[in-house]
Amino acid sequence: MSVETEVAPSTPVERRALEVGKIHQGDCLDLMRQIESGTIDLVFADPPFNIGYDYDEYHDRHADEEYIEWSRQWMEEVHRVLKPGGTFWLAIGDEYAAELKVDAEHKIGFATRSWVVWYYTFGVNCTKKFSRSHVHLFHFVKDENNFTFNADDPQIRVPSARALVYADKRANPAGRLPDDTWVLRPQDMPEGFQPTDDTWYYARVAGTFKERQGFHGCQMPEQLLGRIVRASSNSGEIVLDPFAGSGTTLAVAKKLGRKWMGCELSEEYVRAATERLSGIEEGAALDGPADPIASAPSTANGKKLAAAAPLAEESTTQNRGESSLPSAGATGLANASGATAGSSSSASPAARVLGAPLTKRDLRTVVRDAISDSFYAAHQGGSIDWLLASPALQVGFHAACRETGLIGGPADWNRELLRLRKTGEFPKRGQIKKVHVSDEEMDSYGFAAEIAWRLTNDKFNGPSIDEIFCDPAKAAYFDRAAKRAAPRFETAQYRWAALRLRKASRDLVNDVKRYHFIFAKRDFSRFQLWRGFKPKRLNGQSGIYILRGDDKTPLFIGRTLNLGNRLAQHAECSAIADEVAHVSVINGTDLPGDEYLDAFKEDLVRRHHPRWNVNLVGLGSSARL
Ligand SMILES: C[S@@+](CC[C@H](N)C(=O)[O-])C[C@H]1O[C@@H](n2cnc3c(N)ncnc32)[C@H](O)[C@@H]1O
Repeated sequence: MSVETEVAPSTPVERRALEVGKIHQGDCLDLMRQIESGTIDLVFADPPFNIGYDYDEYHDRHADEEYIEWSRQWMEEVHRVLKPGGTFWLAIGDEYAAELKVDAEHKIGFATRSWVVWYYTFGVNCTKKFSRSHVHLFHFVKDENNFTFNADDPQIRVPSARALVYADKRANPAGRLPDDTWVLRPQDMPEGFQPTDDTWYYARVAGTFKERQGFHGCQMPEQLLGRIVRASSNSGEIVLDPFAGSGTTLAVAKKLGRKWMGCELSEEYVRAATERLSGIEEGAALDGPADPIASAPSTANGKKLAAAAPLAEESTTQNRGESSLPSAGATGLANASGATAGSSSSASPAARVLGAPLTKRDLRTVVRDAISDSFYAAHQGGSIDWLLASPALQVGFHAACRETGLIGGPADWNRELLRLRKTGEFPKRGQIKKVHVSDEEMDSYGFAAEIAWRLTNDKFNGPSIDEIFCDPAKAAYFDRAAKRAAPRFETAQYRWAALRLRKASRDLVNDVKRYHFIFAKRDFSRFQLWRGFKPKRLNGQSGIYILRGDDKTPLFIGRTLNLGNRLAQHAECSAIADEVAHVSVINGTDLPGDEYLDAFKEDLVRRHHPRWNVNLVGLGSSARL
């Protein structure tokens, strides 16, 4: 975040039109200043909430005044770039909702149409207060007498209680506008609407459904953006998102036939979101159920979907291919109608089987075929592990899964892929290319993969490495942590290194057991101050080292082919160097033979419990470290 406290220069700023149909990398304030005044129809902004969230590049904790001042500045730009009849939707947390609303109205000149509360359920569980389960959505317009509000768009209308609950013939068949508390998927959240939450809702709660997760931890649901884009803009108009993140606003705008442009600070998010956008066709269905209350089955119905009969019946209730069914184990991944966007008679065999009534066994086969077809369409000769490690292949695999009509999201499809491999059900077709990474190459970033693995494990309470790479949110956390520990390598390199470590761990268990009595006699003895430490003199020497913090807490034990290079690498990396106070090395004749070095390092890890190491030897006995 760059905050300018200076008054803006009085000389006119030269503005060129920022390209439409693109996510621009950089600070949105700088980028929006390049947009011509009065040219945008709709802005949706979901800025960082200033709550210390862990973004890729942006630091999300600033002094109150600084954050509010910065928000005022970018909201002023939003006001300037909007057409006279333009609309601005702002998503914001409790912390600054009041301040930003007052500034938007009184300092900037927006008029408020609605203060919408969006209820969600994937928040952090609190024990000493009501758990946060909502975001504020302010609907501002530039001119309260002239703005777009497509109240009659059937896809933003919802069925009335008359229609839903009482089957009352007087119910308006066109439905009604939603209230200003938006609950997108009440039936998808068995854990939702607890009396402990601070939005209390006593509606029907049924079924289960896994929220799609992207590479970005703050990905918004497409259906929520669908409502906003449909209500506040028309086909062909321009939608701008200054904080594009995973690109949801722009994906929805593109699907709904709007022009779109975004700004995003993080290069990595820009890359991944651009990939997401390039896989989207105009007119494609939005992800998630369009009308959950009316179209989603109850829990009881959902469970029966694994059996034969209800499927044909369900297909009649699908709503323009946007509705999906709850997940019920593996079979829950199959879309009942097979009629999602893009599936057609030319679709995969898996998709073609759908349509006729299916047995449970059929459904498993359909899911298996859909997953394996999608894998083989996307893998480019690589293995399942390589597909999990490579973000580019992941995008292709998920697009193919979507295309076959599988419901659920990337995490579900990845997990199913691994499940099929584990149970031996995954069909083998053709040769799989081997990935070879030399020990020298691995030496330059393998340690970062280990640190990232450990930090992700701690953050998400002990997932396996498979689960980390299956779930895009966890994988994104891992990627960021690895990049921080050893910048400049590719995401796939870190992920592959972690998978290789996991593989190596199997042999280490025996070696550690067998040779512990030899290892136990060796330990770190001479500690030196990290400040002033000269790694150069250890150049070319292999060895094992430990980094300790201020309070002597063991931070990391590493094994390297070149102590000089590795320790210099740590010294250049502030994420590591800033935490270290002491270092100690074991090298030369103090080391056991080369072939025992990995096991010796693991033995030391088990003795010292460093904060950033994975207990590779303990992996087999427990998922936790
Ligand atoms: C809450 S997230 C947006 C999530 C998005 N709505 C989605 O559905 O994926 C906020 C995003 O703003 C980005 N960001 C932070 N400061 C920025 C700035 N000054 N200019 C542009 N983007 C910024 C962050 O990197 C982050 O991806």
